[in-house]
Amino acid sequence: MNKQEKSLTMTVLMTPDMANFSGNVHGGSLLKLLDQVAYACAAKYCKNYVVTAALDQVFFRQQVNVGELVTFFAHVNHVGRSSMEIGVKVVAENLRTHEKRHTTSCYFTMVAMDENGRSVEVPQLQLDTDLEKRINAAAAMRKKMRQESLEKIRALHVNLPEDDF
Ligand SMILES: CC(C)(COP(=O)(O)OP(=O)(O)OC[C@H]1O[C@@H](n2cnc3c(N)ncnc32)[C@H](O)[C@@H]1OP(=O)(O)O)[C@@H](O)C(=O)NCCC(=O)NCCS
Repeated sequence: MNKQEKSLTMTVLMTPDMANFSGNVHGGSLLKLLDQVAYACAAKYCKNYVVTAALDQVFFRQQVNVGELVTFFAHVNHVGRSSMEIGVKVVAENLRTHEKRHTTSCYFTMVAMDENGRSVEVPQLQLDTDLEKRINAAAAMRKKMRQESLEKIRALHVNLPEDDF
């Protein structure tokens, strides 16, 4: 059996064009890179075009500074029929001191699509190590919690009158 491509690492230097008004890295710049790395990890795994279906709450634990080297560690945690949970861990490194900080972790749901825009099956995930099994079990629980919270959020939705937007 061929070894599956389940992980991907991307390292990017934080340049001044990514800064916000305070001179730190803009959250939106990081979100764009997060989405790119999740896309690349999922597409490489399933060898198909994928779309971003959802991104769980993202908490930026610490700010990221211009000039730091940021590494995105992405991994296929869990797969359903057509969806994949991609976990991304972000580590920022100060290049002068070599201090490394874990600044955020988040979970994307990516869905494989065919050329007609329909979701398609992805290869089932081979779990090779105990760690992969633990990661997979946690992701399965998150998927369940995600579905439950989606139902609760939909029940709370208030439709605005059409004139208001
Ligand atoms: C994501 C998308 C394909 C889901 O469409 P759908 O009609 O629900 O498709 P399906 O019923 O075939 O479901 C496909 C998978 O998406 C998952 N899914 C659907 N809605 C979801 C949500 N809100 N959160 C997480 N996963 C979701 C389903 O659970 C299913 O997973 P599975 O096949 O592993 O069981 C569709 O909503 C879409 O194309 N969205 C736009 C995506 C996009 O353009 N993203 C870029 C940002 S704008």
